[in-house]
Amino acid sequence: MPVSPDITSPMLSAPLRAELRRDVLRGLGSPQKWLPPKWLYDATGSELFEQITVLPDYYPFPAERALLESCSGAIAEASGARTLIELGSGASEKSRLLLNALRARQLGTAYVPVDVSSSALSQAADALRAEYPGLTVAPVLADFTADLELPPVEGPRLVAFLGGTFGNLLPAERAVFLRTLRSQLAPSDGLLLGCDLIKDPAVIRAAYDDPTGVTGAFSKNVLTVLNREFDGDFDLAAFDHAVLWDSHNQWIEMRLRSRHRQTVTLRGLGLAVTFAAGEDLRTEISAKFEPDRLAAEVRAAGLEISRLWTEPTHHYGLALISPAHDRAVDAVRPRLGEDVG
Ligand code: SAH
Ligand code: AVI
Repeated sequence: MPVSPDITSPMLSAPLRAELRRDVLRGLGSPQKWLPPKWLYDATGSELFEQITVLPDYYPFPAERALLESCSGAIAEASGARTLIELGSGASEKSRLLLNALRARQLGTAYVPVDVSSSALSQAADALRAEYPGLTVAPVLADFTADLELPPVEGPRLVAFLGGTFGNLLPAERAVFLRTLRSQLAPSDGLLLGCDLIKDPAVIRAAYDDPTGVTGAFSKNVLTVLNREFDGDFDLAAFDHAVLWDSHNQWIEMRLRSRHRQTVTLRGLGLAVTFAAGEDLRTEISAKFEPDRLAAEVRAAGLEISRLWTEPTHHYGLALISPAHDRAVDAVRPRLGEDVG
């Protein structure tokens, strides 16, 4: 895993650009155009996400924060974690609740935030070093879907994956993620997984379709990233933000809907992409879970939920998960990167 985030350039590193190139060729060349959501998060995308967290209808953030306010003590006790590793840490705001609970118990001597957003990572690391003297803060710039490698730091290690970002992965990606993580967990390590739960689709839809347009700007930001990285000519005004609740897959999708027929050129890739009028580009899925389905996914990876806390008002869950010792993981290994319509 690469370390030492560099925020001096808005451009991606060469390996990341190569990966984005692969994702663009695959996703924009598929019958239903799509891109993995991780590309939403350059510095602007990370900032827009922060604005989303304070939107009145975006319930996942306050729901998880309320849960952590009430349960962090129990989580700290149960995990006994010396090191908190956080995947997709962003601004690390809610992480402070965990750090406070751990440190009140003479635990939590090191914090390892892991994120693809170098700006979010650097800003969070600087702020935490100033706020928590004596805490070792060791940021890792990495993609947890590609090169997840837990650092060999002092255990027990608690891996936090908060915010519902787990639900931004496709089912096959979630299975690979959980199995990869499971293969690296020591018996005393744990996973704290934040998951949005199934509820009235109207409530979910409102969280992703705010009237102020912040979520739309967040979704469109991926077009800005493509324009910058590949000398593209996407016209952001030629796309509308659309959200769709997929009841079969139990996820909400953010899409960019082409206002008219248009051909976009990405000169850096020598690629021209035509959009029909009304054609969509999916920029994110955000899966919502029934507790039983979550438990089944976790079990299939050789893990088990030891505690599940739920926030009743917004129906959001936090699961404390441990390696299961009584069973091998299911034999079939799912393929990564499958195209799910
Ligand atoms: N955990 C924070 C932030 C959630 S936003 C919270 O709960 O508020 C999602 C974060 O995950 C962003 O900071 C984004 O940059 C990061 N992220 C998304 N996909 C990623 C990936 N594949 N690998 C690493 N980080 C990723
Ligand atoms: C980061 N992730 C869990 C957010 C979500 O709710 O799926 C991203 C987001 N997309 C639109 N609004 C927020």
